[in-house]
Amino acid sequence: MRISIYRWGHFNAAHRLHNDHWSDEKNKEVFGKCNNPNFHGHNYEMEVRLTGELDPETGYLFDLSELKRIMKSEVEDRYDHKNLNLECSEFKDKNPSAELICYEIYKILRNVIDKKYDIGVKLWETPRNYVMYPAEH
Ligand code: NI
Repeated sequence: MRISIYRWGHFNAAHRLHNDHWSDEKNKEVFGKCNNPNFHGHNYEMEVRLTGELDPETGYLFDLSELKRIMKSEVEDRYDHKNLNLECSEFKDKNPSAELICYEIYKILRNVIDKKYDIGVKLWETPRNYVMYPAEH
């Protein structure tokens, strides 16, 4: 039986959206408040989904306490209370937009979770805005 499990996680982080190749005016026009030179914070919420075949011996798809541990050690400890632009090398040359943070979280989890599970990540930057990787089609 194929089934999905979900777990929520959370981190607070600061960022600034900026394109070095553009003028200050164009940056302000495109990124608005998120271009503030002094950075600003968001309360990020994430949802991680694992999908695969249920293990008939345990009745589990994946041990949720293990997923909790992975999300904390690999994602939350990495991003919580960080300035994403200045402290996280993956955003050195690209914007820590919700889209790209979500994609980075996916890549981190993909590296440590067995390939027999499909992974989906949703990331909320505000209570009303969220992104998802891989994309729905
Ligand atoms: Ni922002």
